[in-house]
Amino acid sequence: MANGFPKNFYFGAATSSHQVEGHNENDWTEWERKNAARLARNAPFAYNRTPNWLRVESEARDPQNYISGHATNHWNLYEKDYELASEIGLNAYRLSIEWSRVEPSPGYFDEEALAHYREMIRQIKMRGMEPFVTVWHFSLPQWLSMIGGVLAPDFVKYFERYAEKLAAAFGKDVTYWLTMNEPELYLLNGYLRGTWPPGKSNVWEYFEARRALILAHKLAYAAIRRVDLLSSVGAAFNIIDFESGGGFINNLFWRITNKQWNFYFLENLKTNLDFIGLNYYFRNRINYGLNNNPNQKVSDMGTEIYPPGIRVVLERLRKYNLPIYITENGVADRDDTYRASFIRETLEAVKDAMDAGIDIRGYFYWSLLDNFEWDKGFWPRFGLVSVDYKTMARRVRPSAETYKSIIRSNG
Ligand code: BGC
Repeated sequence: MANGFPKNFYFGAATSSHQVEGHNENDWTEWERKNAARLARNAPFAYNRTPNWLRVESEARDPQNYISGHATNHWNLYEKDYELASEIGLNAYRLSIEWSRVEPSPGYFDEEALAHYREMIRQIKMRGMEPFVTVWHFSLPQWLSMIGGVLAPDFVKYFERYAEKLAAAFGKDVTYWLTMNEPELYLLNGYLRGTWPPGKSNVWEYFEARRALILAHKLAYAAIRRVDLLSSVGAAFNIIDFESGGGFINNLFWRITNKQWNFYFLENLKTNLDFIGLNYYFRNRINYGLNNNPNQKVSDMGTEIYPPGIRVVLERLRKYNLPIYITENGVADRDDTYRASFIRETLEAVKDAMDAGIDIRGYFYWSLLDNFEWDKGFWPRFGLVSVDYKTMARRVRPSAETYKSIIRSNG
């Protein structure tokens, strides 16, 4: 990488509360208990064509794989994990706050949970890492999901109050906030495919929920900035490198998909964002169907590994004239075969976009740790650091050394 990254560029890693903390009680834990057996039964049909299937088969067929349970026990081991993060040389860390811990019943905010997060944030900063805090990363308190979750009549008010509370509690120590993570994916899986809580497949409710999330972001954005004057507030969007296979039908389908998936939230929120959080994972080639990719390299989950796609996506975000932080980018790769080159090639593409004048200020690998991959459970391994779920032992993967040397030599 020719001239290196600017001195103040953030090199980080990301995690989310429900995926790493362990011992949560929220709408996901409830859903896991109900669905684990079914997911285990269906696993062979869903994944048996993925490259590492034989190596993960016994895990994927085990209902326990789908129960978050102790997860990585990060709630208790966070100091150790931040120590590893700082050994990798990270100068930023993205975490999310678990709403169900902070507000276990409506309007009651648990001071102990807030103090725990305050301590986590202090430990992050103490190691020279800048905290990026996500207010909401997919999981909801049970009391809220029982009254309709995102569709609850007062959802936006609850969301605003919760965000305001966090800003008041951590504002002194936190500059960078993300109101929410990947609303597009949340809505697709929760309200159309029905594969995530609340398990709906209803177009009408999908649109209602989408409207609620847009308003929720706007209210939370204003609330955080009101309470924490020096804050910078964005949200993380899942943006895909859609490609068209050419011809009228593919081009038309491309146009619709690209607009609806990549730009619906951005267009509606662009005046309520201090920065864009970009989560880039895939290219998706539309050729009389979705995902008709060359797939020369694929992750353990069967998704194409295609780092140059991030360059395309970054170019498409240029028009917003907002700073961009790549808030997630990662690969499920238990043998660590591709991760190092994936990180290197992605950062090359990022640097190229910066050299071309796009304002990119940070990169967060997903994830620091192996963790609970939602409806797939524990078998997909995204971590720079592997986790042995029996002993909770952590081991830094070789690719983390590559990331470390890129950071050390500033690209
Ligand atoms: C989500 C993460 C998830 C990751 C890997 C993103 O869509 O924000 O929670 O673990 O992708 O699939």
